[in-house]
Amino acid sequence: MDLSPQSHVVVTGAAGGIGRALAREFHATGARVTMTDLDEPRLVAVCNDLNAQRAGSATAIAANIGTRDGNAAVIRHARATFGAIDLFFANAGVGMGTDLENSSDDDWTTSFAVNVHAHRYAAEILLPEWLARGRGYFCSTASAAGLLAQIGSAPYSVTKHAAVAFAEWLSITYHDRGLRVSCLCPQGVNTNMLNPDKPTKTGGDFASAGDVVKAAGAVLEPEDVATFTLDAIRDERFLVLPHAEVETYMTTRASQHARWLGGMRKLQARVFGG
Ligand SMILES: NC(=O)c1ccc[n+]([C@@H]2O[C@H](COP(=O)([O-])OP(=O)(O)OC[C@H]3O[C@@H](n4cnc5c(N)ncnc54)[C@H](O)[C@@H]3O)[C@@H](O)[C@H]2O)c1
Repeated sequence: MDLSPQSHVVVTGAAGGIGRALAREFHATGARVTMTDLDEPRLVAVCNDLNAQRAGSATAIAANIGTRDGNAAVIRHARATFGAIDLFFANAGVGMGTDLENSSDDDWTTSFAVNVHAHRYAAEILLPEWLARGRGYFCSTASAAGLLAQIGSAPYSVTKHAAVAFAEWLSITYHDRGLRVSCLCPQGVNTNMLNPDKPTKTGGDFASAGDVVKAAGAVLEPEDVATFTLDAIRDERFLVLPHAEVETYMTTRASQHARWLGGMRKLQARVFGG
């Protein structure tokens, strides 16, 4: 994609972490940026900062993107402020729930709403305009857990796999009509999600679920993930893998599935002391 100045980009989950870094990185290319998040004070701070750099270049609207109405409000606000949307980045996500005995219905429902349905709502609303224009770019943040598995969290594993499947389906179905799709699948990134105020205790070799991710490979800074992601978008690469080792794990999973499952069970036992 030609990220020309004046492109209009929407980023969800932009109050912090990867979303804030993406919003800043797009803005640095000259893009006009619409941002949304549940956390209004932090979202407004990011927006003010971007507008201080270039007046009238950013706008923010607080919304719950786990609902159709939330997505509709964001897209309405974005179009009213900056016109047609060139790229929509469905980045907001939640890490909720643990194993089957300890994940509530709300953990499952909210995980599906934010990690999967949010992507569908946005794409459903945006597609008619994009197909009429013959172009549009949909990006989502899934996770390496969506290509592999998340030790200790059934809702996260399942919904991130669904997010990857949805992005693949969009790409397969609409590529020839001008839609471009990228799916960001990082492993550990140094954000609030990886360093929560109240970490989940695991009882095994690791102090918390986040520590499992930290032990699995390098923990990247969100700014480095954003830079890597924009390069992938310029090249129109579908799969965005800031952690190169994830490709190796994917290959093992695909070609030696039983061995991969065995390795994951060993890791699970180390984590939970099984
Ligand atoms: N940090 C990691 O290690 C890691 C690894 C792989 C994937 N991810 C994914 O990256 C994405 C960004 O997460 P992050 O690591 O920056 O964490 P983060 O917690 O800093 O950012 C997530 C943001 O999404 C917002 N959000 C949550 N629910 C929302 C809703 N219903 N409506 C609007 N906004 C909502 C939160 O307020 C928060 O600002 C998520 O999809 C996450 O699953 C993170």
